[in-house]
This record gives sequence, C-alpha cells and structure tokens, in this order.
Amino acid sequence: MTDETISAALDPAAPAADVIVPDTETADSAATTAAAPLTDNIHSQRWQSYLKDCRELVNLVEQLEVAGRIIKVTGLVMVATGIKLPIGSACYIPLQDGGRVEAEVVGFDGENLLLMPQSAVEGVVPGAKVFSLEIAETLPKPQFGRPPRRRAQDRARHFPVGDHLLGRVVDAAGNPLDGLGPISTEVTAPLGGRVINPLMRAPIETTLDVGVRAINAMLTVGRGQRLGLFAGSGVGKSVLLGMMARYTTADVIVVGLIGERGREVQEFIEQILGPEGLARSVVVAAPADVSALMRLQGASYATAIAEKFRQQGKNVLLIMDSLTRYAMAQREIALAIGEPPATKGYPPSVFAKLPALVERTGNGARGEGSITAFYTVLTEGDDQQDPIADSARAILDGHIVLNRTLAESGHYPAIDIEQSISRAMHNITSSQHQQQARLLKQLYSRFLRSQDLIAVGAYQAGSDPMLDLAIQKRDAINQFLQQDIHECADMQASLDLLANVVS
Ligand SMILES: Nc1ncnc2c1ncn2[C@@H]1O[C@H](COP(=O)(O)OP(=O)(O)O)[C@@H](O)[C@H]1O
Ligand SMILES: [Mg+2]
Repeated sequence: MTDETISAALDPAAPAADVIVPDTETADSAATTAAAPLTDNIHSQRWQSYLKDCRELVNLVEQLEVAGRIIKVTGLVMVATGIKLPIGSACYIPLQDGGRVEAEVVGFDGENLLLMPQSAVEGVVPGAKVFSLEIAETLPKPQFGRPPRRRAQDRARHFPVGDHLLGRVVDAAGNPLDGLGPISTEVTAPLGGRVINPLMRAPIETTLDVGVRAINAMLTVGRGQRLGLFAGSGVGKSVLLGMMARYTTADVIVVGLIGERGREVQEFIEQILGPEGLARSVVVAAPADVSALMRLQGASYATAIAEKFRQQGKNVLLIMDSLTRYAMAQREIALAIGEPPATKGYPPSVFAKLPALVERTGNGARGEGSITAFYTVLTEGDDQQDPIADSARAILDGHIVLNRTLAESGHYPAIDIEQSISRAMHNITSSQHQQQARLLKQLYSRFLRSQDLIAVGAYQAGSDPMLDLAIQKRDAINQFLQQDIHECADMQASLDLLANVVS
C-alpha cells in the first residue's frame, strides 16, 4: 500500500468511496491495485477500530492546567506569580464558595503578573490559584489543522457581536441586562479590533442625516466622521444624542453608556431612546458602579460591535457617553499599577488610549460600511482647557459645544454654533450650502456682539446694514436653531429652511 492509501484508510472521517475509486487521472497504478481489496481486508478494519478507540481515549484525558498563585491584593490590583500570560489576556481565580473572580492581565513586574479584577475581590485568599481563561479551543480538524492563533488578541476573550444584539441592552461582558433571555454567541469578536491601514480607509465623502436641524445645516456630519460633544453636566447631551439616535438615517445605532449613573442609563433607554430608537440599536451599559476595567471594556465592546456592523457594510452611528469617564477609568487603572501621573493627575497612558479607541471608528476600507461616532466630553465647570477635552479636540474631526447660558435661557439643543465646528463639512457640502451657513453664523454672531447696545437703545437703526439684517432675522435664526425633542428635521428640510432664513 502507498502512503496515501494508508492514511486514507486510517481516517474514519474519509468517505470509503475516495479510497476504492481513486481519480484515474492522478492516482498511480499501485494505489489502484491495492485499493480494491481494502474493504474486506480484516487487518485494515482492526486497525481502524483500534485507532478509533485510541482517539476516544485521547479525548478523555484531562489537560494539564498551569495555575499561578495570588501573592498580593492591594486596592484595585492583584499580583500573581507562577503563571505566564500575555498582557490583555483573561484569567480567573476560583473562590472557596464555588464562585470565581475574573481578571485581566494589565501589566507585569519581573516574574509577577499584575491583574485587574473585573468584579469585587471579596473571597480571594492569600495563595489562591489563578488559571488562564483561554477561549474554548476547537479540536483540530484533519483538513484545516489548528485554528489560527496568530495574534495576541485572538487569545483574548471573545464577545458576542452581530445582528442578534439589535434591540438589546447588554453589560460590558455581553451579558443581557434587559431580561429578554440569553444572547446568542454564534458570532463573536475580540475586543481589540483590527487596525485599519490609514491609506486603505475610504475618505469621508457623503453626509449623514442626524435629524437635528442645527447640526444638519450648520455642522454637517459626514459618514465616518468622529465628533466630540463638549458640555458640562445637565446641558442636554443625552437628550441631543437620543434625538440623533431616533432620527438618524444610519442603519444601526450602537450606544456605549460608560461611567454614567445607573439611573441615567435607565432614563436614556426608556425615555430618551424609546422603543422605536431601541429597535435598531444596541446599548452597552457600564455604569459608574462597575469596576474601572469593565468601564474600559464597555467602550471597547461597543466599538467592537460597531466594527462588526461596519464589516457587514452597514452605516453605523456610534454614540459614546462619555469619553471623559473612559479616560477616568484608564487613569484609575494606570495609577493603581504604578504609572506616575502627568497632566492634572492623568498618567501618559490615558492620552495614548484615547486615540487608540477613537481611531477604530470612522470609515472602513472601501466597500465596507462606516462608523460615524459621537463622543461626549465633559467640560467640568464649562472649562474648555481640561486635558481630556484638549486631547479629544485634537483627535476628533470636529466638535459640537453645548452652551450652558443657552440651555439656561431655554434654547435647546443648546448648540453654540460659534464655537462648534465640523471639519469634514467643506468636503461634503455644496458651496451654496456653505455660504448660507456662513452667513447665518455671521448674522448670529453680529447680533450677539451688539446685544447689549441694542438692549439699552444705543444702536441707531441704519448705521450698520449687516447688524440691521441680523436684528431683522434674529427671531427666525433662533427658531431655526431650536428644535423640540419630538421633532425630526431631515437633511432636505434643514437645508430648505436654512436657505429660507438667510434669503
Ligand atoms: N431639546 C430639548 N428640549 C427641551 N428640553 C431639553 C432638551 N434637551 C435637554 N433638555 C432639558 O435638559 C435636561 C438635561 O438634559 P440631559 O440631556 O440629561 O443633560 P446631560 O446629559 O448633558 O447631563 C433635560 O432633563 C431636559 O429637561
Ligand atoms: Mg447625560
């Protein structure tokens, strides 16, 4: 017998026909003659059944597992020794009561691993064992060999992504929070995502209708653009994001609620997003009371979900509330593992993490879909010099600033059109549209500058034609910029009204 016939005969999965009737054009004559009596060859049958038993025995053997030991737990960090795992991989510590604490490798110190728990560490004892949490290895298949494990992120845990998440609310680990039953794990992805070659990215060339007039007309958003929504608390960020989620023409909306209060999460889902918004959305909630690691993971997970939809060719709107809380979670972790603080208590790794997260969104390669992303940035006390705000402004393709004075005077959405800018606008809008938007901005600013003069009656009508026009258009402009929560303003309607106001 030749080598081929032996290996074919020993493989129980190979259909018998392959062995008996080899392809006459390619098989050599020795194989043809040897193959004929094979089915009634008693030795071959015995070998086959023996090898089948061997295979079953091999599968019964329990794999030897390497375990490390916990030697130190301080604050947020656990130190393990005796186990080597790559940074970013997951592990678990079994507890005496049968539960377990899952953790992630966030650094190392000599031979020791620094672990960050994903939940509370109650119950961990000195010397507790640490096991690697490898994702389930599939058995090697004869024709494919081992499944590929080329990259470190393939060793990391995978989380559910894909269509079956639509309409669902999940936590940062992909567990359902809405009580609507388990989430299918048919399609999964690691949280790291793939870096896109910047030269392969499709440019931003089409507009995305977000359903908010002031943004559609004055700060037009392109598909694949990444914008910041800068504001203090209570100025109307959540409401504005909810309006966009409900009225946008994007195919899918992914919402990451990171580090907000639990009550706000519920309010956002039930009142602001509403059932019709939720139906085409996926909400990932990692509120303030979960561990810093889970808050970071929530943001990565929401991005991974959006990436999967983009890969399917969909236009995704990703809403991340908030980027500041994401940075704060990273600060918490970095300080805990001993990184020195630099700017306003933020260690340098925070400023590396932000672009790494933001760069994953945007347009995919040509032929793929897009992720248009809105990140909220808290400007505490409306301070625009905050290091996170500064860093965010540099890495995003535009910023929408909400103004507290406007909000306080009942002007909603409180978008400060003077301070806001969409850097993609000039590439995706007509020159006529740009002119109209510029004129409206000029009139708005002109009136604002002279407001006090006009109020005290110091302005003489007729001395400044531009200001006269601004005064005349003032009510129309204010009305144009305001929009009720329940009102949708699509792109065409926004542009028509803009033309109307400045004509
Ligand atoms: N478009 C709007 N129309 C009317 N009221 C609004 C609008 N946007 C915001 N508000 C008011 O502002 C309050 C705070 O908004 P919210 O979005 O929760 O703020 P933030 O998320 O910035 O903390 C809301 O409860 C609502 O009363
Ligand atoms: Mg909010």
